[in-house]
Amino acid sequence: MKILLKNVLMISAYNAEPVKGNVIVENGKIAGINTCDCMEEGQFDEIEDLSGLLVIPGAMNTHTHVAMTLFRGFYDGLEMKRWLDSILRAETRLYDEAVYYASLVGTAEMVRHGCTAFVDMYFFEDAVARAVRDIGIRAYLTRGIVDVDGGLDKRIRENIDIFEQWHGYDGRIWVGFGPHAPYTCSMRCLEKVARIREELNTFVTIHLYETADERCKYRMEDLEKTGILENAILVHCVHPPENFTEVVGKHRILVSLNPASNMKLGNGIPPFMEYLEKGIPLSVGTDGAASNNSLNVWKELYLCALIAGDRVNPSELFAMLWEMPGKFFGKLGRLQEGYEADLVVINPEVPECVPLGSLRNNLVYSGIPGEVVYVMVKGEWIYREGHFTKIDMKGVLEEFEKHVERLRMH
Ligand code: NI
Repeated sequence: MKILLKNVLMISAYNAEPVKGNVIVENGKIAGINTCDCMEEGQFDEIEDLSGLLVIPGAMNTHTHVAMTLFRGFYDGLEMKRWLDSILRAETRLYDEAVYYASLVGTAEMVRHGCTAFVDMYFFEDAVARAVRDIGIRAYLTRGIVDVDGGLDKRIRENIDIFEQWHGYDGRIWVGFGPHAPYTCSMRCLEKVARIREELNTFVTIHLYETADERCKYRMEDLEKTGILENAILVHCVHPPENFTEVVGKHRILVSLNPASNMKLGNGIPPFMEYLEKGIPLSVGTDGAASNNSLNVWKELYLCALIAGDRVNPSELFAMLWEMPGKFFGKLGRLQEGYEADLVVINPEVPECVPLGSLRNNLVYSGIPGEVVYVMVKGEWIYREGHFTKIDMKGVLEEFEKHVERLRMH
């Protein structure tokens, strides 16, 4: 399958200016981009004339609990401890189909905001995987693992089962491991997860230093010894100890900044300029819809832009959305030959994006990616002009509300 997107305006990478040209997609990958006027059109199976529209790489949301759309708006205005207690109680009532429909709603929200890949940590992750398969987005899924009630081995087993069933599915679904945090997982548990991660050659994701009191609960040296810091997405990192950057700098990691969630739960602001200066790879995540409440990752970028003020430029911000998470996961985040064809077509001629002469800045500082018209993942259109190509969103929303009602009633 060879597709030509012609007459587009494109921002091909985090540091690229918008240029006019063509994007060629073949077998799920970008086969090339060029600026020439006359393409030999006979060689293509599909030709889209996208005059006036802008093509950009798909954004990556590197931390969420996507099915928490079920609890959006339930517990707003609570501080961290009371919020978490309420959520944990509600989560004991969860079941498979509720997670499936909630994941369709959450992924749909991300796609509508120009996001083509996300990292998830939750329960019933098999239902999340089915939702991902059905809507067509790219996903990095983990089963949340805690070590508090003797159920550790069962949870690790479930995570391995999901790995065996879904890892590599259609080249779009990848499964790692999700130890929740060092205060809910013992060092022995982290060691065990790290060993399995290495055997299966995949990734882990873990919440780290989300609250100030976590500094007294565990040390970077001990975490490092468990092996959990290798191939790891470290989430939040709002209250790092002094040796944080020195230790993580020795490992293959990606930090996921979730400023909206941190501010909403009263946990402060991640000191990420220090990370940026030390060359720590950064990305943005929304966290779940119960603590944000939006799954639009562009808003997180906007918050990072505000937090950093004049100490950051649009290229550094776009790198957090595309380049750095893209590199962590492989060849993602650029419109460049050999990269995955995960891209977003937007109408830039909306009030938030003009004047077009400062388009890059307008995108970063508006908190939305213009008006999303089409979304492609792995060479396949999954969203076109307000409609999802693979699912009936109206039916999904109806089912979703039924499950929300059922969860509220019990
Ligand atoms: Ni989280």
